[in-house]
Amino acid sequence: MGYDVQDFAGKPVIAVINTWSDLSPCHSHFRTRADEVKRGVLQAGGFPVELPAMPITETYMKPSPMMYRNLLAMEVEELLRSQPIDGAVLMGGCDKTTPGLLMGSISMNLPAIYLPAGPMLRGNWNGEVLGSGSDVWKYWDEKRAGNISDCEWSEMEAGIARSAGHCMTMGTASTMTAIAETLGLTLPGASSIPAVDANHSRMAAQCGRRIVEMVWEDLKPKDVLTEASFENAITVDMAIGGSTNAIIHLIAMAGRAGIKLELKKFDEISLRTPMIANIRPSGEYLMEDFYYAGGLRALLKEIGQLIDLNCSTVSGACLGADIDSARVFNSRVIRSLADPVSSSGGTAILYGNLAPNGAVIKPTAAEPRLLTHKGRAVVFSDYNDLAARIDDEGLDVDEDSVLVLQNAGPIGAPGMPEWGMLPIPKQLLKKGVRDMVRISDARMSGTAYGACVLHVSPESYVGGPLAFVRDGDLIELDVPNRRLHLDVSDAELALRREKWTAPPARYDRGFGALFAAHVTQADKGCDFDFLHAGDETPEPEIH
Ligand code: FES
Repeated sequence: MGYDVQDFAGKPVIAVINTWSDLSPCHSHFRTRADEVKRGVLQAGGFPVELPAMPITETYMKPSPMMYRNLLAMEVEELLRSQPIDGAVLMGGCDKTTPGLLMGSISMNLPAIYLPAGPMLRGNWNGEVLGSGSDVWKYWDEKRAGNISDCEWSEMEAGIARSAGHCMTMGTASTMTAIAETLGLTLPGASSIPAVDANHSRMAAQCGRRIVEMVWEDLKPKDVLTEASFENAITVDMAIGGSTNAIIHLIAMAGRAGIKLELKKFDEISLRTPMIANIRPSGEYLMEDFYYAGGLRALLKEIGQLIDLNCSTVSGACLGADIDSARVFNSRVIRSLADPVSSSGGTAILYGNLAPNGAVIKPTAAEPRLLTHKGRAVVFSDYNDLAARIDDEGLDVDEDSVLVLQNAGPIGAPGMPEWGMLPIPKQLLKKGVRDMVRISDARMSGTAYGACVLHVSPESYVGGPLAFVRDGDLIELDVPNRRLHLDVSDAELALRREKWTAPPARYDRGFGALFAAHVTQADKGCDFDFLHAGDETPEPEIH
């Protein structure tokens, strides 16, 4: 390879873990960024080595990218363990890459710094500002209702994603990178910089310089991660109106650090945290506006009284010091605690006989009239059943019905795809209906919206109560009282359970079989049971 001994002898060897691929639009700038990281590593006296890791691309992976988050985490952990590495820069941003990279590096616990891909620029079409995902869902309904043409749809496609970077709404990607920064795993301010801004390149080189120092300081992820830093992350998740997916990822990440997060904790923090980031889908603006308004550092400063500012970060200082000089430059985008977008956080946890271990809803993204609702169930046994019947003009459904999708959970789908924003039946779209109560054991894109009850646990495929709902059953949703209730007697439910037979296994071999055997339910973070924190894996012997 042309290296001389003095290139690396006595120097920290830094892995630049790069999730670039030709199928990862969100990471399409990572080849250049990897070079910029290496520039920083060399400047600081380290020796950079670039290691590719599994790209998990939200848009293309089947059956669901979520199925591969744990595989990326395993790959990262074993890459760092098996190779002669002293520290790592982790390059990710598309939804599952942030938790996957972080989970692996937390388990390995070598010095590591996260380099977030940064959001793409605002979308632009016909003079309108478009947001990733959110406007796709919105205009897809208009297309199904016959209000926009194929040609207009193609123009929109060309205008909505016009630069490198991850989705620029407050979807899962923006939520998870903000969480990574709040946890102290990125350089201060890193998560808000748009992917193609020159400051993003500067930040990449800084990551390279800082990781070399971190190796000498022996500053590792578990030195930074504490119960307080995870509570900070949940608070930020609520204050930004973050994606519901963050709940699953945060539980899994905390588990790797030996910290147990209960679903109830999310509700507690949600109730006391106003949502102040006015970003779509719960607000009006986009991530580019958020950056110009001061970015995450300014938001953290604004909610300073709600978080623990003494938590350490990879900067080597504490969170309070990292945000000390931050300011809000546009109070329409980053609102104040006194003038929030919503007085409580973006997520509510529901319990009841339909979700004994919990379910999740994003009330800020739903039509308020639906947050207290009672309606009769229209049940779809799986996604194929949904696709076959949802637009059938003969479907017995009205705007008060509750759409239920079964077998869309972690094992049942498999991989718990983002099917939770069930489509509104075409016959109702034509009447102007744009939101309905929908319930499933699936997830929902962080860019999506609607009165969608998600992550119902346990899932229907393993015999959770969702499996026993039938057409016409009455279902009550009461978000203010955090209740999700199936109006069917216990005796009748027990009878239905007795008659229920478990569906056949989806996989006999390979990763799918491993996944089904070991993935935990949504309320436990969907990590593999054997990857939860335990005794440290010993350093391999060198022979
Ligand atoms: Fe990568 Fe949305 S597709 S973040």
